[in-house]
Amino acid sequence: MTTSTHQPILQVRSLAKAFGGNKVLQDVSFDVQPGEIVGLLGPNGSGKSTLLNTITGFEAIDAGQVLLQGKSIGALPAHRIVSDEGVGRTFQLPSMPTKMSVIEVAMAAATKQHGFWGTLLNSRAARDAEAAARAKATALLDELLLTKVRDLPASALSGGQKKLLGIVCALMGEPRLLMLDEPTAGVHPNLRNDIVSALKRLNEQGMTLVVVEHDMHFIRELCTRCVVLDRGHIVASCAPAELAQNERVLQAYLGGGNKHKEAA
Ligand SMILES: Nc1ncnc2c1ncn2[C@@H]1O[C@H](COP(=O)(O)OP(=O)(O)O)[C@@H](O)[C@H]1O
Ligand SMILES: [Mg+2]
Repeated sequence: MTTSTHQPILQVRSLAKAFGGNKVLQDVSFDVQPGEIVGLLGPNGSGKSTLLNTITGFEAIDAGQVLLQGKSIGALPAHRIVSDEGVGRTFQLPSMPTKMSVIEVAMAAATKQHGFWGTLLNSRAARDAEAAARAKATALLDELLLTKVRDLPASALSGGQKKLLGIVCALMGEPRLLMLDEPTAGVHPNLRNDIVSALKRLNEQGMTLVVVEHDMHFIRELCTRCVVLDRGHIVASCAPAELAQNERVLQAYLGGGNKHKEAA
């Protein structure tokens, strides 16, 4: 493995995952280059969330490799992939604690880059780290349009706002690669453009993004490339503008009896 500047930030090699007899991912291989915004598409049940879960260590892989800037991370547990390797992620259906405010949830996502948890025995350092985490959380909540609700219980947020808080939490770890699972599902349409703008700004600052998304407007606005899954196989890797002409993509959405109007 070279360390040239052209090295992909993420390499997925022949990844396989089954749940019992259900082969959810088979021979999945793709690369993500630094600075890309890759849309991960596919009909419901095609394995998108499972792919994010296996890359980020939330599900064990059965076979294959996951490399982050050339380093194999396929056997690492999720907490190390997040906090040591700098891979942030959000969940398709985020649930939030009832007893914590929005800003407390964001601050709790601070990782050891801020020295937050490692300094709890040292009160001065802990105070400094808490102040740093609070400042970071405050800035990110503002960026993701949650300033007005930051003192509400996190469980009181709408589904869309929980998605935004999930993005804030992922960003607290200052990831180099951010993987988002349907960030705009359930988000009010007025907010979607703001999310696109926020993600574009992050990308301009150097963040690489992989985004599971159905909304074609969002994909065209944001993504530099799309990778399409169908029943656990990658069937296409192309520019957003080429999706509508790609036979394999059309087959994936139409052949399986799926009703995703977006790709039809
Ligand atoms: N933890 C799990 N246990 C058993 N089956 C699962 C689990 N997670 C996902 N699956 C199955 O894997 C398949 C793909 O699911 P998923 O990755 O959620 O698809 P997508 O995100 O593309 O809609 C589905 O058949 C789903 O039922
Ligand atoms: Mg999913």
